[in-house]
Amino acid sequence: MSTSLEIVRLTVNGDPRTAGVPPHWTLLETLRYAMGLTGSKQGCDKGDCGACTVLVDGEPTLSCITPVWEAEGHRVTTVEGLAGPDGPHPVQDAFDRYGAGQCGFCTPGVLCSAAALLERTPTPSRHEVKEALAGNLCRCTGYTKILDAVVDAGRVLAERTSGSGEASNG
Ligand code: FES
Ligand code: FES
Repeated sequence: MSTSLEIVRLTVNGDPRTAGVPPHWTLLETLRYAMGLTGSKQGCDKGDCGACTVLVDGEPTLSCITPVWEAEGHRVTTVEGLAGPDGPHPVQDAFDRYGAGQCGFCTPGVLCSAAALLERTPTPSRHEVKEALAGNLCRCTGYTKILDAVVDAGRVLAERTSGSGEASNG
C-alpha cells in the first residue's frame, strides 16, 4: 500500500521551500530526504543526542522529534544557513581555528545551538556555553575545544561590535 504525500511549505535558510512528504514525517526527515539538506544529522532519532538540532524562529529545536507540520509558518535555519554574505558564522570560524570538530557528526547541531546562544548572549561565559550545549552530545572531543571555540567566537563578536561602534562614532 503506498503512502499518500502531503504538501508542506517551509521557510528554510530564508528561502520558501515546498515538498511532498508522508504525513507522519519529522522536520529532520523532510530537511534531509525531501529537501537535500543533509547537514542536520540523524543520530539517535529520539531526542537524546542533539545531532539533529536546527533553529526554529531562532530557537534550538530537535528536528528528529518535531513533526514537520509544526514548522509550517516558522523560520527554519539549518547549519547550511548559518554563514552570512561575508563568510562563515563566527562560531564556524572559531571551530575551524580551534579544531573543535573531529568526526563532525555532532558539529552541525552544536553549531546551531551555539549560534542561538551567541544571538541572545553575545559574550557568554564558559558556564553559559556549557549550559547551552548540554543537549548536544559529542563522543570525540571531550568538549574542551568546543567550549574554547564558542567562548572565543563571543570574543570575536564583541570586538566586531565595538569596532563597528567606533567606526560609526568616528
Ligand atoms: S537525532 Fe535528534 S536528538 Fe538525536
Ligand atoms: S566530533 Fe565526533 S561526535 Fe562530536
